[in-house]
Amino acid sequence: MAAILQSLGRTIIAGIILLILILAIVSGVTGVGPHFDHAWGAFVMRWLHVASGVMWIGLLWYFNFVQIPSMPKIPDEQKPAIGKVIAPTALFWFRWAALATVITGLLLATMNGYIAAALSLQVPFHAIGIGMWLALVMAFNVWFIIWPNQKKALGIVVVEAAEKAAAARTAMLTSRINTLLSIPMLYMMVAQQNGGL
Ligand code: HEM
Repeated sequence: MAAILQSLGRTIIAGIILLILILAIVSGVTGVGPHFDHAWGAFVMRWLHVASGVMWIGLLWYFNFVQIPSMPKIPDEQKPAIGKVIAPTALFWFRWAALATVITGLLLATMNGYIAAALSLQVPFHAIGIGMWLALVMAFNVWFIIWPNQKKALGIVVVEAAEKAAAARTAMLTSRINTLLSIPMLYMMVAQQNGGL
């Protein structure tokens, strides 16, 4: 067991195997299981979408709830551990999870046949449409504002001290805007199926 848990890759594979086992046992006991049809395909896309969304918004909230407020409390000589090691890794998963969430979300809406109706905010797809537009703005912010400015702030792209400080501030404020947007975004995202609007 420790051999599995000491490796992140093996842990993820073990989680997938556990899921398959649970599905097989539940189907065997109840006689009810997934039908491998279009509806199931759309469901799997929804599952992948929620998983990427959790990774994306989880890291956004990690930055805003944990990392940014903790930075002033960390002694200067220890700050490079965050700036040079933790933040670049967190930003790697953050931006690719954002892209994966957008792609799986757009595919999901396409598979469910309402992408145009949702993006043009037609009733009854207006809730998911608003959620999608909010999330698209957030993903734009990640790729075209936060990431380019973080590259300067973290020294991945070398710039003068004043520009570096300005980039760090822009990245932080845009990250705050995304945290603000994440609250109505998530409400709208889950409202469509569950009577929230
Ligand atoms: C541009 C990005 C996004 C697009 C295009 C998108 C699109 C969609 C679509 C089409 C659905 C299916 C809605 C339905 O039929 O009820 C959905 C569901 C969902 N989305 Fe997103 N989404 C995006 C971003 C996000 C983000 C950032 C999260 C954060 C966790 C998220 C979480 C969810 C959840 C939890 C559901 C399941 C809702 C339910 O079953 O009640 N989505 N999304």
